[in-house]
Amino acid sequence: MYKLVKPLFFQFQPEQAHHLVTSGLKRFHKWGGGGLLKVSFAYQHPDLEREVFGLKFKNPVGLAAGFDKNAQYVKEMASLGFGFIEIGTVTPLPQPGNEKPRMFRLVKDEALINRMGFNNQGAGVAAERLRHLKKRDGLIIGGNIGKNKSTPNDQAVNDYVKCFDALFDVVDYFVVNVSSPNTPGLRELQEKEPLTHILRTLQARNRKNDLSRPILLKIAPDLSNSQLDDIVDIVKETGIAGVIATNTTLSREGLESSKTLKEQAGGLSGKPLRLRATEVIRYLAEKSGNAFPIIGVGGIHSPEDALEKLKAGASLMQLYSGFIYEGPQLIRRICKALIHKKQDL
Ligand SMILES: Cc1cc2nc3c(=O)[nH]c(=O)nc-3n(C[C@H](O)[C@H](O)[C@H](O)COP(=O)(O)O)c2cc1C
Repeated sequence: MYKLVKPLFFQFQPEQAHHLVTSGLKRFHKWGGGGLLKVSFAYQHPDLEREVFGLKFKNPVGLAAGFDKNAQYVKEMASLGFGFIEIGTVTPLPQPGNEKPRMFRLVKDEALINRMGFNNQGAGVAAERLRHLKKRDGLIIGGNIGKNKSTPNDQAVNDYVKCFDALFDVVDYFVVNVSSPNTPGLRELQEKEPLTHILRTLQARNRKNDLSRPILLKIAPDLSNSQLDDIVDIVKETGIAGVIATNTTLSREGLESSKTLKEQAGGLSGKPLRLRATEVIRYLAEKSGNAFPIIGVGGIHSPEDALEKLKAGASLMQLYSGFIYEGPQLIRRICKALIHKKQDL
């Protein structure tokens, strides 16, 4: 089915296509189509359930951050079969992001380049939407948080705290995003000192509440092994719940698309990211002795890619580009493969 409509969607600019699909889904859902979507796409089986960082997931396939930045399509995406949805990245204040066009399809490489720049309506608006979400039905929702472009790095911690406070009551886990390549200087926050400071501050805040929320760190695939060693130390030292590996890459190695496309500024996602993201997962799992859970993301376009991430050490996984190229059936295909291949894992 998706194979039939994909060429039509791909006639539009990627951001326009995104808007068409999400608003269409929303309308369909509103008219009572949610049940039909669930029957057509979602796949439930007790063997798919996972308990990770104290949360119960219906299945291990989640929607990666960036698709539903403002928590507008949580129910709709859940009815396609995702086991969890990560909203954001949100920042304390709304911001428009970079000038359009800022998202590009590299069809030959089954990849995307984006330089969205954290366009979002602000943490408060997302929180309000989630507060009004009726019947969550066991769906796990993550809140991916960042800093405003205008906030200097030495004050970044305040932005993360503001987002954390705004979303605390309405999300199940948090993701500290210091790995987007599209906010100038953001990736410098992955260095040991500023990162430890941000995570320690959030953890202290977390402990003040009766119920704490798992905090995860999302990292870039472009970190060196010694930087990854630092990440392992920081996760252990601050006691955060885990890591999401990885965000988009700045690398353009091995691409077949035209020069104009591959030279677009921004982060690359999709198939060309697959191997590097898996390497990062494997490295972190081995170096830490599986001390914390990892959510694997980057280039999952098939059930085999999904199994590769789990074998490398991931407990859960997320999709973005694979969902665009393969459609919602990919979630069900992965879930089915997990049932059949479970003895190999
Ligand atoms: C258009 C677009 C926007 C994204 N926005 C965010 C974001 O706001 N925050 C974030 O942590 N990751 C963001 N990502 C990164 C994805 O969550 C994911 O880590 C990355 O795309 C690799 O997965 P994939 O190969 O399955 O796409 C974005 C990716 C794309 C393609």
